[in-house]
Amino acid sequence: MSKIDPLEFRQALGSFATGVTVITSIDPGNNPVGVTASSFNSVSLDPPLVLWSLAKNAMSLSSFQSSGYFCVHILAASQQDTSDQFASRGVDKFAGIDWGRGIGNLPILSKYAARFQCKTSYQYEGGDHIIFVGEVLECDRVEELPLVFHGGKYALAKTKHGNEKYREAVNIEAGTFSDQFFLYLLSRSHFQAAHKLQKDLRESNLNKEKYLALTLFGMGGGLSLQDLHVRMEHTGHKPSHAMLQDMFERGLIVETTRGTRDKIKFSLSVKGRELYVSLLAKSKAIEEELLDDFSPEEVADTRDFLQRFIRKSDPGVPDLWQ
Ligand SMILES: Cc1cc2nc3c(=O)[nH]c(=O)nc-3n(C[C@H](O)[C@H](O)[C@H](O)COP(=O)(O)O)c2cc1C
Repeated sequence: MSKIDPLEFRQALGSFATGVTVITSIDPGNNPVGVTASSFNSVSLDPPLVLWSLAKNAMSLSSFQSSGYFCVHILAASQQDTSDQFASRGVDKFAGIDWGRGIGNLPILSKYAARFQCKTSYQYEGGDHIIFVGEVLECDRVEELPLVFHGGKYALAKTKHGNEKYREAVNIEAGTFSDQFFLYLLSRSHFQAAHKLQKDLRESNLNKEKYLALTLFGMGGGLSLQDLHVRMEHTGHKPSHAMLQDMFERGLIVETTRGTRDKIKFSLSVKGRELYVSLLAKSKAIEEELLDDFSPEEVADTRDFLQRFIRKSDPGVPDLWQ
């Protein structure tokens, strides 16, 4: 009896990222059958051979064993639903699927990233699976990103560019870091994006503190100097009486509640709100320009990542959007 823990074994196998295929064939009545399989692999270039394995308890096993042909469809990233459909038992797997007939009457799907029509060459016993080896009679492909399966979940393929090669991010002893140092990348992104707004801030006579205060007032009115202190603390910038006095004299903020010096609450005046909105519009334009080269998926993933990263690194900043 094997000493290997089955769960451990499955999880370890799941570390091997694969593509996802739908493999089709016909039953003795010429009806289409098909399964989702990630066990597909290349075997030989000359002759062109591929293999995959099917569980002995699969309902379609006898059809694959007797038909003499199978067609492998490597699924595109957009075909997760097709994968789920062909992995379900007791359903009409071809419902809503666009398909036709190929070599040996094989059912061939119209959508795929790559497709291999094969003649079964060998079948081997492989424990609780049967291994099918097929000779590829015809193959074709389209320019589509493949669907990926990893760790029991669907994933997307991402090209690794040269500059993403693994390099030590920080070497504390040598006092050096590379461009893989995550916090450096975050800070540099922040500084470079913020730099684009600096000309407008100068023209509006706003230093960092005043700009931050203007933004905070814009998010929710009625803030005292003390409130600003708490809300700005994580930025390393400090609001001051002189700063508020200047903004007040320039007509950007008005008093909303009277109180002792630290407790007087201010909010944006009409003029202050106009300036805030114009800077917000400018920031939005900068954002659009900077994100132009990135795909909607990349932007959505990065936004999601940053929101989680902000929660994880939160030193206790009050909820600014309340
Ligand atoms: C991503 C993924 C990969 C799979 N790979 C295989 C595989 O390589 N071999 C296998 O026998 N079953 C695999 N399965 C499970 C079968 O698709 C599933 O059991 C299917 O219902 C079998 O079809 P049948 O019993 O209707 O013939 C996979 C399922 C998923 C979701």
